[in-house]
Amino acid sequence: MDILITADQIQARIREMGEQIERDYPPDEGIHLVGVLKGGFMFMSDLVRAMSARVTLDFIAVSSYAKSTKSSGEVRMLKDLDAGLEGRHVIIVEDIVDTGLTLTYLQDILRARAPKSLKTACLLSKPSRRKVDVAVEYIGFTIEDRFVVGYGLDFAERYRNLRDIAVLDEASAT
Ligand code: IMP
Ligand code: MG
Repeated sequence: MDILITADQIQARIREMGEQIERDYPPDEGIHLVGVLKGGFMFMSDLVRAMSARVTLDFIAVSSYAKSTKSSGEVRMLKDLDAGLEGRHVIIVEDIVDTGLTLTYLQDILRARAPKSLKTACLLSKPSRRKVDVAVEYIGFTIEDRFVVGYGLDFAERYRNLRDIAVLDEASAT
């Protein structure tokens, strides 16, 4: 598979994102990161290590894709958060924003839990695929309309463990 973004490029960009997020919030206030499983797990683990000790984290699991590369447009909650969000600065941490349907759903249900603020961080964005206009305050890389895997992103649950982000080719999609 052709590498689109190397592990080193990913790490360098996440360090910048961590610094930017730290600067954007009052220094004496906590930041609560909500990682979206499973795709966002690797980004989450590197992003929290690029931030200071005021960070807390939780995970939520949703499913929008069956075993294909096309979005079904349907979002299902598979695992809810452990803790409430009331009065907290919350940032949703997601692998990729594609059509925007998953994040729109997540933002709606989390906003209803009365966080002090709600923002979203995505490692990747494919703007040409957007079906709904969704606000994403922190974006790592903007990419073309290619199906990518690695660094948390899967094809039929495979390739999540790659250190780089690669473009899925036909031989790897069987
Ligand atoms: P959306 O709801 O269409 O924005 O899709 C978001 C979800 O689709 C992401 O969280 C990913 O799990 C999945 N997804 C979208 N594009 C890709 C891709 O290129 N590779 C792997 N998963 C993707
Ligand atoms: Mg995902």
